[in-house]
Amino acid sequence: MEKKRIVSGMRPTGPLHLGHYFGVLKNWINFQEEYECYFFVADWHALTSEYSEPQKIRNFIYELVKDWFSVGLNPEKCIIFLQSQVKQHAELHLLLSMLTPLGWLERNPTYKEVKQELIAKDLNTYGFLGYPVLMASDILVYRPQLVPVGEDQLPHLELTREIARRFNYLYGETFPEPQAKLTEAARLPGLDGRKMSKSYGNSIYLNEDIKSIEKKIRAMLTDTNRKRKNDPGNPNICNLFPYHKLMTPAEVQEEIITNCTQAKWGCVDCKKILLNNLIKFLEPIHDKRKIIDKDSQLVDSILEKGNKLARESAEETMKIVRSKINFI
Ligand code: TRP
Repeated sequence: MEKKRIVSGMRPTGPLHLGHYFGVLKNWINFQEEYECYFFVADWHALTSEYSEPQKIRNFIYELVKDWFSVGLNPEKCIIFLQSQVKQHAELHLLLSMLTPLGWLERNPTYKEVKQELIAKDLNTYGFLGYPVLMASDILVYRPQLVPVGEDQLPHLELTREIARRFNYLYGETFPEPQAKLTEAARLPGLDGRKMSKSYGNSIYLNEDIKSIEKKIRAMLTDTNRKRKNDPGNPNICNLFPYHKLMTPAEVQEEIITNCTQAKWGCVDCKKILLNNLIKFLEPIHDKRKIIDKDSQLVDSILEKGNKLARESAEETMKIVRSKINFI
């Protein structure tokens, strides 16, 4: 049986943190075994909001591939590539833009939200409005069955399906409608309990050094109702406990609950356990990071190999697409 195909991308906008790991990457790593995977760095998508400072994007591309490699994305098992090096995405974007009604784009809730959030940037551009058309092209150019995305991306994926349907209706069956692959993802809140995000300064990065992590853990607020060590604590409202849930063996979690709620252990003890487990978790990631940091050619060679495979696959689709619309 042929493996099902998966396509997904990330914008290169900064180093990845634990939230990305548990929310997205952990799933990607598992998919490598079961699916034919295309994972790409969406540098053109980064340009839709960063067009005035494009020099930033270059570095983040390298960072992103290094982060991916460190957590265990394996270029032998999946196709890792750079969007802007597969020009077929741009060609399909142009063709799809001809048949995409403006109303579909203007109504897109993600479009409205992001534009509101990034009010400081001028996002009144043609490119930004077309963000989901480019995303549809990224996906459809590989004709995959599945697209693993977070919930925030579902409106975009719905649009991808609508665009595919419209193309198929106008020119004949060409694109299968890709389905969202929503997997159970653990949500790891930031150090302050809000969503983990670079802009909140509440993240632990995959490539962060242990000293700096230690400082952050020490400064974390726990159960704020627990004023003294003798007061019983409540793990359910403690910022630390979600981390234990992902990083600490179940029996130790039980022990923590008992000792916290009976005021036998203080928060400092609890933080020590967490830090140890966090270090254990990050160790193999940091080891792999050293390998790719040392080998100055490795990122380029991973991308070159992936770009070539992606191009071949995308070109196959484009041959069909061009002929369907009577272009050569
Ligand atoms: N918009 C996605 C995000 O911000 C990134 C992305 C671009 C993407 N093209 C894609 C994701 C294609 C999945 C498939 O997360």
